[in-house]
Amino acid sequence: MAYSLGKILIDKDRINQMVTRMARQISADYKDEELVVVGILKGSFIFMADLVRQLNMPIIIDFMSVSSYFENTRSTGIVKIIKDLDINIHDKHVLIVEDIVDSGLTLSHLKELLMTKDPRSLKLCVAFDKPDRRKTQIEADYVGMVIPDEFIVGYGLDYAGKYRNLSDIWIMESDGGNK
Ligand code: PRP
Repeated sequence: MAYSLGKILIDKDRINQMVTRMARQISADYKDEELVVVGILKGSFIFMADLVRQLNMPIIIDFMSVSSYFENTRSTGIVKIIKDLDINIHDKHVLIVEDIVDSGLTLSHLKELLMTKDPRSLKLCVAFDKPDRRKTQIEADYVGMVIPDEFIVGYGLDYAGKYRNLSDIWIMESDGGNK
């Protein structure tokens, strides 16, 4: 099934407002405590870049890369670690940053894994939440927007590796009619 860009679901002005609101909340919660911000590649890279530039506390950046979709639009439930953390998070405040939580399998697996490294605290921050698609019970501590079960791209999110650079969130539409 081929897909093409449909219409904008969330425009860049709303995304900017969302990020500012989240950054204010996170800055207020951690105050001047040092925070390790862990971006989950690749989807989080734009959201993470926008978010950390609005945080006031001392920040250490790290990334992990995991794979769960394998070029499909539906989650397989398999989460494979492709790149692990570079730094030691023992006794650190850690914030995992994701673009989207869908089935919840990626975040729940990551949370379990990072908890074994004994952080001082571990919280989850997601830009977009699709609660209708959840397969496991997990709630992020910071959620930008709750969204409907649409196939979205842009602001870091891709279709077959493309469209991550779009500034707005777009809905993809199937060209053939049947999803
Ligand atoms: C997306 C997203 C999350 C995960 C969420 O990543 O960035 O990591 O899927 O889905 P889940 O809640 O069903 O586990 P993807 O595997 O598409 O990789 P990408 O970030 O490189 O696009």
